[in-house]
Amino acid sequence: MTSHPLRLAPSLLSADFARLAEEIARAEAAGADWLHVDVMDGHFVPNLTIGPPVLRAIRAVAKVPLDVHLMIEEPARWAERYVKAGAWALTFHVEACADEAEARATAAAFRAAGAALVGLSLNPGTPSEQVEPLLDAVDLVLVMSVQPGFGGQSFRPEALPKVRRLRELGFAGHVEMDGGIGRDTLPACVAAGADVLVSGSALFGAADLAAEMAHFRSLGERARREESHAR
Ligand code: DX5
Ligand code: ZN
Repeated sequence: MTSHPLRLAPSLLSADFARLAEEIARAEAAGADWLHVDVMDGHFVPNLTIGPPVLRAIRAVAKVPLDVHLMIEEPARWAERYVKAGAWALTFHVEACADEAEARATAAAFRAAGAALVGLSLNPGTPSEQVEPLLDAVDLVLVMSVQPGFGGQSFRPEALPKVRRLRELGFAGHVEMDGGIGRDTLPACVAAGADVLVSGSALFGAADLAAEMAHFRSLGERARREESHAR
């Protein structure tokens, strides 16, 4: 388990992009702890989303920290631009790096660029062994529970043992999960040791965003209580 409070990070990928400021205000009023911003480059993933100018516009209206998830090639080259545009937590993918040395250099570049939290992500098919040697270099590990690229996919349970393994190894930073998280899947994520839960379609698609977030939070707190009793 972890001593970090549970954090809910609605993913703006599922918000109405024509009304971003209103959607951000709505998510914040509903209790968003962080806002999750998905950056895709059309190369690392087959989709193209948000660049630095749009991130800057989001930063100008958002009150809570921006959790920026880079699904891009050559992440180190972009670090400074995304930090300057307002990224607070900045996460790259281990699969975007040729080897461990490049991943370590990327984490160092993110830190030098001034990211408050340096994050490392891995895809559902990537074993946790690939991030384990890098844990001392990062503040956050984002365990993907869908193949990155699109919202609205089904949760992949093979992500859960990786979260458990990170906690068993004593990783004390944030463990974030992203993809297919909703009422049915959130409790298992929290029980495994995740403290940051990203959700896009299940939150923005809900009839009442605030009620859905409150429900997520109570499910998460309950999963934590049950997990600590089971120990
Ligand atoms: C997927 C993104 C996710 C996405 C999650 O590549 O990284 O952040 O928005 O969306 P849902 O919650 O709909 O799976
Ligand atoms: Zn994401």
